[in-house]
Amino acid sequence: MEKESFKKFGYQFIDWVADYLSELEKYPVCSQVKPGQIKNQLPKNPPKEGESMEEIFMDFQRIIIPGITHWQHPSWFAYFPANNSPASILAELLTAGMGSQCMIWKTSPAATELEEVVCEWLRQMIGLPEGMAGVIQDTASTATLVALLTAREKSTNFEANQKGLRMPLVVYASEEAHSSVEKGAKIAGFGKEFIHYIPTDENFALIPEKLKEAINEDKAKGLLPSCVVATVGTTSSTACDPLDPIGKICRRYGLWFHVDAAYAGTAAILPEKRWILKGVEHVDSFVFNPHKWMLTNFDCSAYFVKDPGVLTRTFEIHPEYLKTGVDAQVNNYRDWGIQLGRRFRALKLWFVIRSYGIEGLQAIIREHIRLAQMFKDWVKSHEYFELMAPVPLSVVCFRLNDGRGEEELNEINKEFHERINQTGKIFLTHTALKGKYVLRMVIGTRTTEERNVREAWGLILEKAKELIPSLKKRGEPK
Ligand SMILES: Cc1ncc(COP(=O)(O)O)c(C=O)c1O
Repeated sequence: MEKESFKKFGYQFIDWVADYLSELEKYPVCSQVKPGQIKNQLPKNPPKEGESMEEIFMDFQRIIIPGITHWQHPSWFAYFPANNSPASILAELLTAGMGSQCMIWKTSPAATELEEVVCEWLRQMIGLPEGMAGVIQDTASTATLVALLTAREKSTNFEANQKGLRMPLVVYASEEAHSSVEKGAKIAGFGKEFIHYIPTDENFALIPEKLKEAINEDKAKGLLPSCVVATVGTTSSTACDPLDPIGKICRRYGLWFHVDAAYAGTAAILPEKRWILKGVEHVDSFVFNPHKWMLTNFDCSAYFVKDPGVLTRTFEIHPEYLKTGVDAQVNNYRDWGIQLGRRFRALKLWFVIRSYGIEGLQAIIREHIRLAQMFKDWVKSHEYFELMAPVPLSVVCFRLNDGRGEEELNEINKEFHERINQTGKIFLTHTALKGKYVLRMVIGTRTTEERNVREAWGLILEKAKELIPSLKKRGEPK
């Protein structure tokens, strides 16, 4: 493509993205296509000759867009958010333009040094202990795997890397921990049977006393407790495990202490929410995802460690072809994780933090939390709705409950959920809390306004009325 054509399409695509972001409400939140519908419109074989950008772009709009679920939609209330923002998008454009592969300092000194700086900014912003060092991983799943591999090496005095894992090491996490803990423990060789899930209290947070009991029982059996993964902001209900007592147990028994704060970590930029990290001084490693709530395009996961030496000793490799004359003076981030090749992810984070400032980001997070508390009050004050978990941040777990039996309640809530999503106007996902089918209202998309949350509640009431006719006698949406 000639430079002038590249510019022409570049301007056109930026126009398209700007319009897309401002007109998202014209799309159904969740793609309405059937399985295979997109693939069937695409040629089975690659084109022999190059095609024009006009044709490619036309097909993008005609074929691809109908198969897109719109994560930036203001009525996105599903999973957790995966926000972008204008600043982040523009930085991604520059990143793509430079096309750098930032595996070591030498392959782009600015990428490494900017990563060090933005990680230190993030550390300060969320109040992690001074001295913790950061690295950007692709996802929280990878960061947790990295933590588990490091814990494995620490527990075996770095023997597992040499000889393979021969000891029965145990990982502990609450029964509400994310599935990435199981995946990581399997990949790291702990084995599924050696993940011991600790019961949670009525607020779905890990019970420290039960953790201590489990560790003692395992030690008595000759197993080797290795690592505890606590969650701040569980996926189902955003419960926060109490880091202080858990951390003290880890210190007493010499266990690696990893914290998964994938979604909730961003909330710690608010002084009034810092309590979620009380006890964080005990942690060995910590992860949160700016790609969830901090307006930074997927993927961008910030991973912090107390002792980078243990981390790099776990991962470092020194093949001749990667050696450089400055290795003793610089950070080579290839030794801070699994992959060798690395994207320049620090740039988008730098753009976002500079463009919004701490106060700009705080205002957005605070507003999401306010909207969620408003929604929680509506649920609590309605006779036929039940609040299913505390709402420390911006996720409300709720269900319809008109007093029928538990099994029937699960059925009617499943039906209720389907009817809501079938409208295409909003998108909610569900979970199970202590066996109960629960809908999750997640408020965390940059573009969401109070109007969107009010409309969502109106729609939820409308669908509830279809299922519980007596609701019709009650008032209109608040
Ligand atoms: C608590 C928690 N941990 C980990 C993850 C996995 O995140 P990622 O997609 O970055 O691997 C999630 C995803 O939502 C999560 O909620």
